[in-house]
Amino acid sequence: MMENEWIIETVNLSKHFGSLVAVDNVNLKVRKNSLHAIIGPNGAGKTTFFNLLSGNLKPTTGKVIFHGKEITHQPVYRMIHHGLGRSFQITNIFPNLTVFENIRLASQVLEKENFNFLIKTSQLTDCDRRTWEVMERVGLKDRAAIPARNLPHGDQRKLELGMILAPDPEVLLLDEPTAGMAAEQVPELIHLIQEIQKAGNKTVMLVEHNMNVVMSISDTITVMHLGKVLAEGSPAQITANKEVQTAYLGGLYELDV
Ligand SMILES: Nc1ncnc2c1ncn2[C@@H]1O[C@H](COP(=O)(O)OP(=O)(O)OP(=O)(O)O)[C@@H](O)[C@H]1O
Ligand SMILES: [Mg+2]
Repeated sequence: MMENEWIIETVNLSKHFGSLVAVDNVNLKVRKNSLHAIIGPNGAGKTTFFNLLSGNLKPTTGKVIFHGKEITHQPVYRMIHHGLGRSFQITNIFPNLTVFENIRLASQVLEKENFNFLIKTSQLTDCDRRTWEVMERVGLKDRAAIPARNLPHGDQRKLELGMILAPDPEVLLLDEPTAGMAAEQVPELIHLIQEIQKAGNKTVMLVEHNMNVVMSISDTITVMHLGKVLAEGSPAQITANKEVQTAYLGGLYELDV
């Protein structure tokens, strides 16, 4: 196997909060251009693990490797420059800014000098162009002028996805992107995530509680339990895994696959 097939690797990665071990010695590899889901019950350590990958938390021990280089101790803004984009479990938009302004702001992360997004320019800058492209990608082009707070929840999640896409990351870390969405809106967002991953040659890491979604779109699934990796494999392997069935899936989810 070629070494550069792995875009992210963790080596003995752990995070302790006092005596609680939230992430416990996790060794995980993520294949470039794959959709890799992390599942596990509440409190399993999924969000903490994402925080370690994105640099929002520093590990107690272990390493995070991106494209074969250790990035464990890099600050968060560097992670974005390195091509790691993430979403937080809580919708992370600016409610009083319009859709355009939110995405424009996110796309400026990569521009060093200009943080004045309200500046009037007669010319379309690269940033503006990128903003329109992204709004089109996530299906919010005709809502450009609407303040984010006035969007329905489903569109807010699309906006959040747009904000992650704006700086054109190689890896998207999506923490429960469908959380709080009405069931009938979920397929559209999932389809959008798949499209973004496939068309854009992106690697997507996804934390998701909806097992039907996870089983239908993932290339690889890692099951976490009490901070540890309990199992890893394809959706078929995870579905058939007795240990996962007993410890987790059987008790918590109805599997409809
Ligand atoms: N900042 C923190 N300080 C102390 N304990 C924390 C902190 N963040 C998380 N924890 C604890 O670490 C454990 C893992 O939490 P985490 O949020 O990573 O789980 P999760 O798998 O994302 O759960 P959920 O599915 O509910 O989102 C939990 O026991 C949680 O209470
Ligand atoms: Mg979480």
